[in-house]
Amino acid sequence: MTIPTDLVVKLAAAKSVTVLTGAGVSAESGVPTFRDAQTGLWAKYSPEELATPRAFRRNPRLVWEWYECRRQLVAKAKPNPAHLALAGMEPFFPNFHLITQNVDGLHQLAGNRNVTELHGNIMRTKCFEEGVVVAKWEETGDVPPKCPRCGGPLRPAVVWFEEAMPEAEMETAVSATRNCQVFLSIGTSNVVYPAAGLPSEALRCGAVVVEINPHQTPFTDMATYVLAGAAGIVMPQLLDALTAARKS
Ligand code: OAD
Repeated sequence: MTIPTDLVVKLAAAKSVTVLTGAGVSAESGVPTFRDAQTGLWAKYSPEELATPRAFRRNPRLVWEWYECRRQLVAKAKPNPAHLALAGMEPFFPNFHLITQNVDGLHQLAGNRNVTELHGNIMRTKCFEEGVVVAKWEETGDVPPKCPRCGGPLRPAVVWFEEAMPEAEMETAVSATRNCQVFLSIGTSNVVYPAAGLPSEALRCGAVVVEINPHQTPFTDMATYVLAGAAGIVMPQLLDALTAARKS
């Protein structure tokens, strides 16, 4: 993949860079994307049938067990070259914001510090009734386990379909989107709003917007630059080009 020279010049000159990542960034760490076909035991369900408050009320055990499966997968996942390149990129800029739709914590594990988790984090648990994070609970064999305070069912602290986004995180994401010179949209299908609206908002506010994705998305035709490749390949190349440009 050749990184356009004029893109490298603009990136090297930027003071503020904002990044939006989606499941495609974690694909090379073995964490399936949402649009990957569900496998094995879960093949007959779509995420939309599992990741909603309605699905949880209808069958809390099923939803809890699906997330337990994903937690075990995420717990074994390691940051891949795309995560590591983004961690290497952060110190280059006075203002670097990484906004992620992913719930796997791999950006923080790779070393990024300024990370905003729009959809929460699968390794955190909260009370379904009270909405507050619960760090520990008594294992009584109940599935899902019960909140130690109110006895309600516990649930993963992630944003489900039909749920509102966390307000503070969304405000941070919108502000970082409106105040950057370069916006990188990496590994997202750009179909789930409000996150999917961020690349267009960055464009509207005058940023250079780069889409990094091996496949087309509804945003591809609007992007300033399209690097049509896997994030694990493209991001290390982008970091190398930035490093060389800053040295020259
Ligand atoms: P999707 O599964 O919708 O899209 C993954 C994107 O990553 C696709 O566009 C793929 O082409 C791309 N992709 C796959 N492998 C890649 C690679 N190696 N490098 C770069 N890109 C790659 O995942 P998201 O866009 O993150 O929300 O989905 C957004 C939201 O939809 C998720 O956060 C989740 C889901 O509903 C909630 O759970 C609330």
